[in-house]
Amino acid sequence: MYLSRFLSIHALWVTVSSVMQPYPLVWGHYDLCKTQIYTEEGKVWDYMACQPESTDMTKYLKVKLDPPDITCGDPPETFCAMGNPYMCNNECDASTPELAHPPELMFDFEGRHPSTFWQSATWKEYPKPLQVNITLSWSKTIELTDNIVITFESGRPDQMILEKSLDYGRTWQPYQYYATDCLDAFHMDPKSVKDLSQHTVLEIICTEEYSTGYTTNSKIIHFEIKDRFAFFAGPRLRNMASLYGQLDTTKKLRDFFTVTDLRIRLLRPAVGEIFVDELHLARYFYAISDIKVRGRCKCNLHATVCVYDNSKLTCECEHNTTGPDCGKCKKNYQGRPWSPGSYLPIPKGTANTCIPSISSIGKCYCNPLGSIHDRCNGSGFCECKTGTTGPKCDECLPGNSWHYGCQPNVCDNELLHCQNGGTCHNNVRCLCPAAYTGILCEKLRCEEAGSCGSDSGQGAPPHGSPALLLLTTLLGSASPLVF
Ligand SMILES: *[C@@H]1O[C@H](CO)[C@@H](O)[C@H](O)[C@H]1NC(C)=O
Ligand SMILES: *[C@@H]1O[C@H](CO)[C@@H](O)[C@H](O)[C@H]1NC(C)=O
Ligand SMILES: *[C@@H]1O[C@H](CO)[C@@H](O)[C@H](O)[C@H]1NC(C)=O
Repeated sequence: MYLSRFLSIHALWVTVSSVMQPYPLVWGHYDLCKTQIYTEEGKVWDYMACQPESTDMTKYLKVKLDPPDITCGDPPETFCAMGNPYMCNNECDASTPELAHPPELMFDFEGRHPSTFWQSATWKEYPKPLQVNITLSWSKTIELTDNIVITFESGRPDQMILEKSLDYGRTWQPYQYYATDCLDAFHMDPKSVKDLSQHTVLEIICTEEYSTGYTTNSKIIHFEIKDRFAFFAGPRLRNMASLYGQLDTTKKLRDFFTVTDLRIRLLRPAVGEIFVDELHLARYFYAISDIKVRGRCKCNLHATVCVYDNSKLTCECEHNTTGPDCGKCKKNYQGRPWSPGSYLPIPKGTANTCIPSISSIGKCYCNPLGSIHDRCNGSGFCECKTGTTGPKCDECLPGNSWHYGCQPNVCDNELLHCQNGGTCHNNVRCLCPAAYTGILCEKLRCEEAGSCGSDSGQGAPPHGSPALLLLTTLLGSASPLVF
């Protein structure tokens, strides 16, 4: 497991160093979570906001197609050539590697000749719509850092929606609509990203820029991340500090660039003419040779390393945070509420580390008999009942003894002596000689019973009379025999 983890990290870094370049310096400010500095107290750690590098995220996704059997070639079928829609003797055959077009080919190396691509079945069931969902899932929140680019091998679709999920595919929302005619397809006015501004940057638009079917040489569709960044960072993204300032303070903006899943909904293939040519339905299908998604693991600015292990991306959290996105404080580090690191102040940001919980300084469990509450109060102390003391409220103040909690002493050997030869039992009662009673054995028993003989004399111990002894034994409520 350790080896594979190491290899994954290694692979990630190799990728980063070989492909990284769109804005190397500006993003690079957040590549360290901590550094050692010298202060009057000696060497100490200084903590900073940090994030993983931007990388090719298509290596870490799972792809799912709906309908599941929409890929061409099972059974084999013929389709028309890309360039010439009337040359219809090409073959797709899933069981022959050279003629198969499985979904993986959207993510393999681009630039091969001839190019490799995924292809759908043809529109043979026209007029039933030919619709395909391509769902890309990361099982992890990621932040997009560059345009999503989809390269079609045949014409670009007449109608398409890019959707995103922020909750692992439970709910979906549109990201952008694409159509040759936005009004007709989606009842939306056509717009381009250039029509937006800082204030409308989160608007979901329909664009006609990328849907011109067969009639153009361009095969590419963009979802423009960089143009949207540029509303804050300026052209060529020179002022990233300004973008970071916005991201720090506007959760909606952060969330806009964050996804767990993307879905490409292909709604109508390229037709290129007003009418569908029903005699040549093998002209109509979808084919995609490449999908580019660049981004980084979302670690809330608490990690620089994101590990791919067991087909799962996980942030290696610093600053005593934890969770797949470093989205909470570690146990015993909840001394203040969790918050994400902050990009500002530039250039190192603010780490917002989690600090030890007060209740974890020693372990806080107060003696339930000696304390008012069995947990510490807000400043980390056990609050003791009267007569009780000690950090855990399990010791008694002088004049008190432990008896299901601290109780004031009834008798002791200092101030509250038992009298007339009585002995103090566990500080809670005097064991009196038979003739005496009272809390401290201070009273003659016969006095209490009103039966003292006149000849015995006031205060003299009634020695030697068996009858009297028997009587006191029967009457005595605090008889020595009882103890
Ligand atoms: C594609 O996904 C959408 C929801 O995002 C769903 O409404 C639609 O039915 C799906 N289409 C297919 C062909 O599975
Ligand atoms: C996190 O906790 C460990 C262990 O108690 C400590 O050594 C480290 O300095 C803490 N880090 C931060 C950023 O507070
Ligand atoms: C907690 O208890 C200690 C000791 O009794 C007391 O000094 C302190 O003021 C208490 N703090 C709070 C927040 O109640």
